[in-house]
Amino acid sequence: MIRVLVLNGPNLGRLGVRQPEIYGATTFPELAEHLRETGRALGLDVDVRQTNHEGEMLDWLGEAADEGLPVVLNPAAWSHTSIAIADAVAQVEMVVEVHISNVHAREEFRKHLVVSPYATGVIAGLGLGGYDLALTHIAATADVVDG
Ligand code: DQA
Repeated sequence: MIRVLVLNGPNLGRLGVRQPEIYGATTFPELAEHLRETGRALGLDVDVRQTNHEGEMLDWLGEAADEGLPVVLNPAAWSHTSIAIADAVAQVEMVVEVHISNVHAREEFRKHLVVSPYATGVIAGLGLGGYDLALTHIAATADVVDG
């Protein structure tokens, strides 16, 4: 079974409470459980994590690089600011960047994405369904690689 890390940056632990008009009513534990189920159906072992601490996220991305694990990443606010996260993402073979909201249709500062150039692909604006699409892509790509 292919192991996948689903890594979430700052404030995403407050899903369901934080600006539900933008991010929806589903809580982070509910999302995590849903993604583990999606993973099971796709034959993926999905490990869902969230941190508000940049160093911890850097360590997780290093783990993915060292172990060759595909990553689904919502860098949250770090998407717009963190060269350190961008540098870490550049070391990981497969990173699907996910944004719940359409960052291109929001404030100007959200249109500036420093991590995206190093991601394999980016999904934005499709709500929490973006995470499922990212996992579906990883499962399909891994199938191709496995033959
Ligand atoms: C976000 C968009 C970011 O601009 C914001 O800082 C977030 C969440 C999204 O999923 O839509 O925290 O990455």
